[in-house]
Amino acid sequence: MTVCTIEDLRKLAEKRVPRMFYDYADSGSWTESTYRANESDFQKIKLRQRVAVDMTNRSTAMPMVGNNTFMPVALAPTGLAGMQRADGEIHAAKAAEKFGVPFTLSTMSICSIEDVAEHTQAPFWFQLYVMKDKRFLESLIDRAKAAKCSALVLTLDLQILGQRHKDVRNGLSTAPYKSIKGLTQIAAKPLWAMRMLATKRKGFRNIIGHAEGVSNLDSLFSWTAEQFDPQLNWKDVEWIKKKWGGKLILKGILDTEDAKLAEETGADAIIVSNHGGRQLDGAPSSISQLKDIVDAVGDQIEVHVDGGIRSGQDVLKAIALGAKGTYIGRPFLYGLGAMGEQGVTKTLEIVHKELDITMALCGERELRNIGRKHLLPGSF
Ligand SMILES: Cc1cc2nc3c(=O)[nH]c(=O)nc-3n(C[C@H](O)[C@H](O)[C@H](O)COP(=O)(O)O)c2cc1C
Repeated sequence: MTVCTIEDLRKLAEKRVPRMFYDYADSGSWTESTYRANESDFQKIKLRQRVAVDMTNRSTAMPMVGNNTFMPVALAPTGLAGMQRADGEIHAAKAAEKFGVPFTLSTMSICSIEDVAEHTQAPFWFQLYVMKDKRFLESLIDRAKAAKCSALVLTLDLQILGQRHKDVRNGLSTAPYKSIKGLTQIAAKPLWAMRMLATKRKGFRNIIGHAEGVSNLDSLFSWTAEQFDPQLNWKDVEWIKKKWGGKLILKGILDTEDAKLAEETGADAIIVSNHGGRQLDGAPSSISQLKDIVDAVGDQIEVHVDGGIRSGQDVLKAIALGAKGTYIGRPFLYGLGAMGEQGVTKTLEIVHKELDITMALCGERELRNIGRKHLLPGSF
């Protein structure tokens, strides 16, 4: 297959990744209405076509929290990326490094902070979930500092888990190697399985061996359910900000009131996000909330956005509405599942090419000059 779009990569990933892990990526919570709206709401926003303007010497570069980027499209933190492909987080981090965009490692990754640091030179970002075990939380922050991570992404929208039916049906809450269904799904993808057999990185390596009482994948699932702190509040955010001491990005803001509270913490950026439609089903799409949040706090704090970005056109629309950065989750997971590091590079190439040409056809040469004037009035 000639790969031209993110959808092409999705189809390839679906063929190559065991069902339970493919489904884990391609799912939203409950009815998946927010998951779908994240993508479809981008279609409502229309671009203004301009002609007869100089299109030479274009640049998509824009900094995100002071980090230079080739384009303001970071790889979003995603748990279990190392199950889309063996050593997945390392592959994705390498692709991001070569392309000049930030890679964000999830707390719930398969490869550890140290694994990724060992295989990359450029600083990456680390995403933190707030746990009840504050000693473990502090140790995660210290490890991210030791690995010279250049930003901490603190996720605020997953203190309890929104149910994704596919995960329940696939039995994802138990170790995949221990159920008949899991083993059957794995046996159907022998190449995936061979690569997985060849790596030592199979469990949640940020956690196993670091947190007390977690020694294998089985106990980890129950540990996670018990450990995410449902009492997380803005005081914790301040405490984490102080303890971290570096660039802080607050992820999961979808409401202007929360955006104001987030801005008051003195964080460097917020991510307008509904966790890719995986948490509160029935919440609005991220892109539909971006404009109001930018208008409320955009002159005080960098506003980033994720959810539903599937093309360079989507990135441009987000930047035009005032985002200073964007993130892609599933698009890079599909690339990873389809073709490993090369597939993530392909994802980034597709998005970059579309972004660059879209910008030119809107009559601009520098992405940082893109604004609402490039959108059709009445369409956003
Ligand atoms: C499979 C998967 C796992 C995810 N795991 C995490 C995670 O561990 N931490 C986190 O903050 N967000 C996580 N997210 C949410 C992403 O960071 C991001 O908000 C979302 O994927 C953006 O939507 P998109 O996939 O449409 O680009 C995950 C998303 C997916 C699809």
